[in-house]
Amino acid sequence: MVRRRLVLLPVTAVAVALLPGTAVAAPGDEPVPGAPGLGDPYYPLDGNGGYDVDHYDLRLRYDPATDELTATATIEAAATQPLSSFNLDLQGLTVSAVTVEDDDATWTRDGGELTITPAEPLEEGQDVTTVITYSGVPATLPDVSGFLHTDDGAVVAGQPDGAATWFPANDHPLDPATVTVTATVPEGLEAISNGALEEQSTADGWTTWRWDAAEPMATYLVTLAIGEFDVREYEADGVRYWDALDPDLFTPVMGGPPRGEIAAASLARQPEVIDWLSDWLGDYPFGTAGGIVDDDAALVFALETQTRPVYSPLYFTDQLRGDVVVVHELAHQWTGDLVRIAAWQHLWLNEGFATYAEWLWLERAGVRTAQQSFDQLAALPPESPLWEDLPGDPGPALEDLFSAAVYNRGAMTLHALRSAVGEDVFARLVREWVSAQAGEAVTTADFTALAEEVSGQELDELFQTWLFTPGKPAGLGAAPAAQPSAGTAVAGSPSAAAASAGTTVSSR
Ligand code: ARG
Ligand code: ZN
Repeated sequence: MVRRRLVLLPVTAVAVALLPGTAVAAPGDEPVPGAPGLGDPYYPLDGNGGYDVDHYDLRLRYDPATDELTATATIEAAATQPLSSFNLDLQGLTVSAVTVEDDDATWTRDGGELTITPAEPLEEGQDVTTVITYSGVPATLPDVSGFLHTDDGAVVAGQPDGAATWFPANDHPLDPATVTVTATVPEGLEAISNGALEEQSTADGWTTWRWDAAEPMATYLVTLAIGEFDVREYEADGVRYWDALDPDLFTPVMGGPPRGEIAAASLARQPEVIDWLSDWLGDYPFGTAGGIVDDDAALVFALETQTRPVYSPLYFTDQLRGDVVVVHELAHQWTGDLVRIAAWQHLWLNEGFATYAEWLWLERAGVRTAQQSFDQLAALPPESPLWEDLPGDPGPALEDLFSAAVYNRGAMTLHALRSAVGEDVFARLVREWVSAQAGEAVTTADFTALAEEVSGQELDELFQTWLFTPGKPAGLGAAPAAQPSAGTAVAGSPSAAAASAGTTVSSR
């Protein structure tokens, strides 16, 4: 469901639209090809124009012995314009059949674009069911995200646009949809996805797991983890939890508890974390929750996959660090998943809030105050990359998109805002932001406008300085920074985690 759209207008339509008093030209009756992208300035070909997806029904068989995926994707969508053809995003894999409304359709492939031409053109407003049969070995993306093949299965963490490595998708957060994942895996393995487990059955040496995610989500938030997992199912405060932990994480280690024990203890705190976050952000937005921890050190970050984040095992080296990453990913359920960004340059709205949740948790845990977290970063020298990268427009390269600035300078922006508007106004603003934008796609401008509205203050300069001006803000960090009272360093970025070669994961 696209709730807000970056409109790609043909040149003539732009000219018409600019005439005073003239509305944007109404779409003609002539069916035309749908746009190959949704116009994201960073990733122009992500997503596609001309339709809104309502539901993905993914039926997949995966054999870890060959890494081969065999699948059928049934996509229910509504055409938003007359279409002679339309695109889906799909990276690699081999398509063997496509039907649209039960009729055979033709298709072509070009890079990440799958172009489907239905037997009959689609009318504006028409509901349309497309079935795509495909197979192959899903690719892992160069930054080791997307579809990761593990020792006994696979795990998916595809932000920003890795969903297309394992299913045909309108792969942009502007078009969230509900998802059913039915995964068939060799008997003895588990298959975990988003939402609620609806069915599990075994026949002929294969077990089928059906997961249903009832709340719409962006495609990058769909996950699938296959392998040996201890699955723990429970309910707390009306939320149904499924946690999945790789049993390999419980192998005894010298000098401390195994990672599995730390991870299990952190996940056991999810109901407490969700309850605590609810005070800040409003009621937990989904009916299900839980976490997935696979023992694969190639995965060096965590991802807020909706209702069921995926975690690198590298976070679970000590309890505080484990708890903090769970806080971060759970905070994303509100800021990132429920409230989603309309274009990737606004990612600081996700990461700034999730990082700020870490700071608040550290304060609650008595480790250091949010002010001390801020002060530590403020003490970094002017040469630090933290001051070079712009949270409000970090750039499309993944090391920029997921840079420390987006996370830490993003959180500093929120802290500076809180200091400027005061405790009560900040609390009201955050609540209102989440409740007013629930289910919507947002931009930085939406946030700054609401901040000005709720506070009654002119905040241009603050946001301009913190989000869009390179260099260390003047007058910052003059005082010596407070030292942390316990072992957790201020979080870095996922790219920093990759750079530190697996000994430490500095953050999400
Ligand atoms: N959004 C994730 C988090 O902060 C990090 C994802 C990093 N993605 C990547 N492709 N490296 O929790
Ligand atoms: Zn994050």
